[in-house]
Amino acid sequence: MPTKLGYNFSNSWFDENLGVWDQLIPSINPTRILEVGSFEGNSTCYLIDKLASEKEIEIHCVDTWEGGIEHKEGGFAHANMNETEKLFKQNTQISIANAKNKVNLAIHKGLSSIELSRLIAAGKSEYFDFRAPRKKEISTPPSINKKTPYGAKG
Ligand SMILES: C[S@@+](CC[C@H](N)C(=O)[O-])C[C@H]1O[C@@H](n2cnc3c(N)ncnc32)[C@H](O)[C@@H]1O
Repeated sequence: MPTKLGYNFSNSWFDENLGVWDQLIPSINPTRILEVGSFEGNSTCYLIDKLASEKEIEIHCVDTWEGGIEHKEGGFAHANMNETEKLFKQNTQISIANAKNKVNLAIHKGLSSIELSRLIAAGKSEYFDFRAPRKKEISTPPSINKKTPYGAKG
């Protein structure tokens, strides 16, 4: 399914995320991005197109390029993962070539459990721009402080 920028994606699953991503990505406005599960690069190219039009970015993509159970023979989204990996490289090259600013793309081919451990070992545990809040950063709801069960009166 070639698109107007010359990308080649075999499906349009990512389009379902556009509504949420169009709101979320500008509000987070990340510069250092960690993506787990890149497939043909649809979400990667989205991030490059949106963010590298404004600034230099660094994006790390983790994928086995072996697919999940759904991509295996007989799965609902059967894919030739060698072809998928080639498409990821072609699509991201197009995106990087069209970007106004520099894009530092790092590809980590392997299982997320292993590749994320490697990133932590390389000192990148606090490196990326979006993370879940730490426990101490979450304020405790008053109803819990007062030991009053939710919905209970008094
Ligand atoms: C649904 S696709 C990702 C879609 C992609 N973000 C897009 O926008 O088109 C899921 C991808 O995650 C990869 N994957 C699944 N489990 C993984 C794991 N444990 N470690 C690394 N990659 C994994 C698969 O190889 C596949 O390419």
